[in-house]
Amino acid sequence: MTRTVYVNGEWLAEDKATVSIFDRGFLMADGVYEVTSVLDGKLIDFGGHCARLRRSLSELDMPSPATDEALLAIHRELLERNNVVDGMIYLQVTRGNPGDRDFTFPDPASTKPTLVLFTQSKPGLADNPQAKIGLKVISIPDIRWHRRDIKTVQLLYPSMGKMMAKKAGCDDAWFVEDGFVTEGTSNNAYIVKGGKIITRGLSSDILHGITRAAVLRFAEEAQLVVEERSFTIEEAKSADEAFITSASAFVMPVVEIDGAKLGGGVPGRVATRLREIYLEESRKAAI
Ligand code: PDD
Repeated sequence: MTRTVYVNGEWLAEDKATVSIFDRGFLMADGVYEVTSVLDGKLIDFGGHCARLRRSLSELDMPSPATDEALLAIHRELLERNNVVDGMIYLQVTRGNPGDRDFTFPDPASTKPTLVLFTQSKPGLADNPQAKIGLKVISIPDIRWHRRDIKTVQLLYPSMGKMMAKKAGCDDAWFVEDGFVTEGTSNNAYIVKGGKIITRGLSSDILHGITRAAVLRFAEEAQLVVEERSFTIEEAKSADEAFITSASAFVMPVVEIDGAKLGGGVPGRVATRLREIYLEESRKAAI
């Protein structure tokens, strides 16, 4: 089945949808993106993703292609046209096609941003069997640029990190900088020690996860102690539990770090409980 995708105001079959070879997203990775999850045909935390998109655009002086209301309408129409019940919507905005390659930004009056959205259907996304097994992660140096708070499409090093993990027989990699874990290749990283949930504080060192914000709020509502501070891989290896969060994985337990098993190599109680709470509360608030 071919998907119907959205490109700059047009609804097209996926094999008919194209962007220019001069698009700055293609030539310069000059673009930002968002991934919004879909459960029961509804959008999870759409407001949070829109707010972060606005911030990414403004940090890069990139014009906005549409209002939040228009984006919501496009998201909904995409779900309907593609009969998506569970899965994700991918949105990408680039600085558009100035008609040639040039390092300087084009005049936004003459070069409009490129807006692309498509669906990724994942039936039963919330019942991912990996959540019962947990992930194995390796640690690798964080050599990304220093504006990781902007959700850009510069994803080559995260892709390389996933390949390094795969080669090592693992599921993902955690980045380490100056001795401390920053985040996962495409997720935020947490450990649990003595009942406390520990995760790095917000700064330009990490992406400000929309799932992270919701999970920390739900954790506090459930009277769990949250400590926002950096931690080392050594501390993580001796933690009681670990987990990651992202829009596509929700809360996913981590059971092994650099070969060291955590909690006997099975998902921990805190991660499992937080996943349940997150899914329940997010479904309730979905639009
Ligand atoms: N990745 N950190 C990084 C580096 C990420 O790429 C992501 C999301 C997160 C978690 O953010 P959120 O909870 O808002 O999804 C943290 C998305 C899912 C992706 O690239 O596919």
